[in-house]
Amino acid sequence: MITYIGTPKLETERLLLEKFELNDAQKVFDHWISDERVTDNRVSAAHTAVSQKVERVANIVSQYEKEDFCYWAVKLKDSGELIGEIDLYDFNEATGNCEVSYSLGYQWWNQGYGTEALRAVIEFGFRHMNLHKIAAAHNTDNPASGRIMSKAGMVQEGIVRDMIRNSKGQYKDCAIYGILEGEYFSRGDESLCGNKDL
Ligand SMILES: CC(C)(COP(=O)(O)OP(=O)(O)OC[C@H]1O[C@@H](n2cnc3c(N)ncnc32)[C@H](O)[C@@H]1OP(=O)(O)O)[C@@H](O)C(=O)NCCC(=O)NCCS
Repeated sequence: MITYIGTPKLETERLLLEKFELNDAQKVFDHWISDERVTDNRVSAAHTAVSQKVERVANIVSQYEKEDFCYWAVKLKDSGELIGEIDLYDFNEATGNCEVSYSLGYQWWNQGYGTEALRAVIEFGFRHMNLHKIAAAHNTDNPASGRIMSKAGMVQEGIVRDMIRNSKGQYKDCAIYGILEGEYFSRGDESLCGNKDL
């Protein structure tokens, strides 16, 4: 059974993952949601459009009262700068499985932050939520996302052809990745992020 504890603060070497606040809306827009280099690579249909600047963050904030809502703002520890977002969603009670998705502002790509955030959320999911499996998908023309999944211990399970159709009407093949609880704990690196004792 999944243990829901909402969106607690998580800490990594260089990042803080914490709840969004209403006044983050402009930064979310400026840093990644208005940038097609970021949004063109997003897969989940649940994550909607650029136009909903304030509503989007207000909608996230309003859901923090639900314990099964896990949606983090990703901030640099040193400066407090808001650089991205990461969430666990589509929880399945029957299986204990869910999905993860993430986006970072372009200026912060390729500095290891995506991998650091994903590892922290995977650690949280297995150590604190009793999840069975965490899965994700990326467009095959977005290999950086697959790379961070691999670095976080996820395994590619296959390619689904024309899995999504983006806002420009283009079909995209997606690679599906997953990590099982047993794989995570057998690897023995579960304390990498230091959020053992939330
Ligand atoms: C996916 C994303 C979160 C990655 O974040 P990040 O902070 O840049 O990731 P990291 O720096 O931890 O790692 C990136 C890895 O991808 C690799 N990479 C970058 N561009 C690549 C490319 N075109 N082809 C292959 N690998 C690439 C980097 O070399 C690095 O791997 P390495 O550490 O082995 O060198 C970020 O690119 C992003 O927000 N993209 C847009 C939104 C998105 O794709 N969301 C996910 C939808 S599934």
